[in-house]
Amino acid sequence: STKPEVTILGKTYPRDEWSNTPAAIQEKLGRNLHLTQGHPLSTLREIIEGHFAGYTAVRPDSPVVTVHQNFDELGFPPDHPGRSKTDTYYVNGTHMLRTHTSAHEVEAYKTGADAFLIAADVYRRDEIDSSHYPVFHQMEGMRHWTQDQLPGLIEENKRLEKELSQIPIVIEDTSTIGPENPLQDCHDPVIATEMAKNLKHSLNGMIFKLFGDAAARSGEPLKVRWIDAYFPWTTPSFEVEVWYNGEWLEILGCGVVIQKTLERGGVGHKSGWAFGLGLERIAMVLFGIPDIRLFWSTDPRFLDQFATGDITTFKPYSRYPPCYKDMSFWLPDSVKQASAAEILPWHENDYCEIVRDVAGDLVENVSLIDDFTHPKSGRRSLCYRLNYRSMDRNLTNEEVNVLQDQVQKRVIQDMGIEMR
Ligand code: PHE
Repeated sequence: STKPEVTILGKTYPRDEWSNTPAAIQEKLGRNLHLTQGHPLSTLREIIEGHFAGYTAVRPDSPVVTVHQNFDELGFPPDHPGRSKTDTYYVNGTHMLRTHTSAHEVEAYKTGADAFLIAADVYRRDEIDSSHYPVFHQMEGMRHWTQDQLPGLIEENKRLEKELSQIPIVIEDTSTIGPENPLQDCHDPVIATEMAKNLKHSLNGMIFKLFGDAAARSGEPLKVRWIDAYFPWTTPSFEVEVWYNGEWLEILGCGVVIQKTLERGGVGHKSGWAFGLGLERIAMVLFGIPDIRLFWSTDPRFLDQFATGDITTFKPYSRYPPCYKDMSFWLPDSVKQASAAEILPWHENDYCEIVRDVAGDLVENVSLIDDFTHPKSGRRSLCYRLNYRSMDRNLTNEEVNVLQDQVQKRVIQDMGIEMR
């Protein structure tokens, strides 16, 4: 699998030492779950689009973006951890699979519209458990004002405040605007504060549309919490959490866009806000979907439970038995492996990538169950438990052994470890 180029959705890119997008991920490209009629992710997208009526829908065609679009243009510093090969799928040194829909903000600004909604699949290397999957879906919203539209903003905020005061929602705003989360020097502080208010009011309204019914069923008002955040292309920046089933659920990040970013999109004469949210996390709670792999199921027992536009509770159709296999190994000894720079340092995401590449969606969970350093030799050993379970059938012990064996061979080969 080391051809001199990487082909993604019919386009070829030269392979280099950054290329780390495996075949298993490439197979997911173009599924477009968020655009599949009746799929829970598509229904959730439609509800959000309904809230932001009149916004221009942007549907980026390829998940391949430049490193410049995903990071540089948004002001990510050169040493930002998100850029690491352990966290991001690179096509090569200049191209990558977008890690967030924000990668399309600046190109959207160039169209000149004043309100946008972007929905797309995004990609991140990650661990394996019921709420992480290397492909997921995000929506990005942006809104702009020119100088002469700003008086309308204040009017609109008053109207939104009135609307919010009439619905059962409790907004706990612990966020600040100040030295830790500053306004921009180039903004009139009154106007910038109104933009931040508009952002909050618009999102509180959206959150009520999504979670209001569930809160009503629980007999309590919906509780929403705003906290300070940091993003390289917004200030002030916020994160929003929703109280759901006895827990604060983090659902989105947002802020007032830094003027430099707007300038890059040719709209330095406007100002405004942006937000980004993950669809899976919200859909899992609203539809009661217990495992993120289910979104990818083609089993009619999953798909037939959902109809376009409705939030209905998923009824698990079966739960097949799990099958645990443990794998213990010594990490590479840096002295003996001095020349093998690629295999050091050890990163769990690299291990999980191999597991996914071999076993795909048949692995439900990978967890570290032992981490031991030999007192004399100083060698470190790890033990991982791989929990195999299919969503739609029984797995035999024999086939799981074959998979476990293949994972073992691949990690020995690719990561330079030694089995215990
Ligand atoms: N892209 C950010 C994320 O994935 C969310 C975000 C979008 C934050 C827009 C600010 C503005 O976490």
